[in-house]
Amino acid sequence: MRRIAVLTSGGDAPGMNAAIRAVVRTAAIRGWEVYGVRNGYEGLIDGKIFPLGARDVGGILQRGGTILGSARSPEFKTEAGQLKAIRSLNQFGIEGLVVIGGNGSQTGSLALHRHGFPVVGVASTIDNDLYGSDITIGVDTALNIALEAIDRLKITASSHQRAFLVEVMGRDCGYLALMASIAGGAEAVVIPEVEVDPEEIAQRLVRAYERGKAHAIVVVAEGAQYNATKLGSYFEKHRERLGFDLRVTILGHVQRGGDPGAYDRILASRLGAGAVEALERGEYGVLVGMIKSQVSTTPLEEVVSNKKQIDLKLFELAKMLD
Ligand code: F6P
Repeated sequence: MRRIAVLTSGGDAPGMNAAIRAVVRTAAIRGWEVYGVRNGYEGLIDGKIFPLGARDVGGILQRGGTILGSARSPEFKTEAGQLKAIRSLNQFGIEGLVVIGGNGSQTGSLALHRHGFPVVGVASTIDNDLYGSDITIGVDTALNIALEAIDRLKITASSHQRAFLVEVMGRDCGYLALMASIAGGAEAVVIPEVEVDPEEIAQRLVRAYERGKAHAIVVVAEGAQYNATKLGSYFEKHRERLGFDLRVTILGHVQRGGDPGAYDRILASRLGAGAVEALERGEYGVLVGMIKSQVSTTPLEEVVSNKKQIDLKLFELAKMLD
């Protein structure tokens, strides 16, 4: 391998920069040239590819977002788009590609692999919904941001004896919501993986009020059938008997915008380095992730055809600790 490229794709995640830095520097040590691609697969299609040296990635380890930019590219989902991308890679003499991203991005990696291009994925998404990595880049930082918000909401909730429905990201996965509810001591949690009767949540709030609690927090995953807005409208109709006054807070992209904490910087550094090692071994068409605390590879075919399960014992734990 003499020349590789790296791109970030899909939703940005705190730690992506640390992964880019690790790819660039561990490749440079091997004497390889590294090129950066602007805005994910869009940039690949448009040939927005430029040299990225070891010094160009100085000072980015601690920065959130991605210096390369990211995008969700509808064109790359087409065969024609994928072939254009491969043409760009060939024009620049690139022999291997590292794709840092989540599910959609790794589906793109698999498409390139099927076209015969050497590609390695790095597991990165705040949703933690990617098969092939127990934990993905950005999850820990996003979780801590959600937690800080919950802690703050508890304070104002207590001053006014209010209940807050706090909606967190995660797409169709309840991981962030579940972990935020345990770490934040929430009174209830609503996740897509478990069917919920809004009446059961209402009862939990009533019981919390009757126990004399000054506040109640319900963490709601954005992908749940009853997201915070829907649950809020249900509760609005039952306002009188809830006891608490009710407010809804949707955290949204705030969770993605933080600077990575120590955990994400280290995880991203290890996975970025792992991607270069996989390319060196000639192990292509795989995702580099963390499995049982070891940097591991999983074939992309397996990654995209499996759904990661969350541990529902943690859901039971959350319910016991309210
Ligand atoms: O996949 C990461 C994520 O932040 C999801 O949690 C969320 O549903 C989605 O991206 C938001 O996408 P966008 O940034 O395109 O609005």
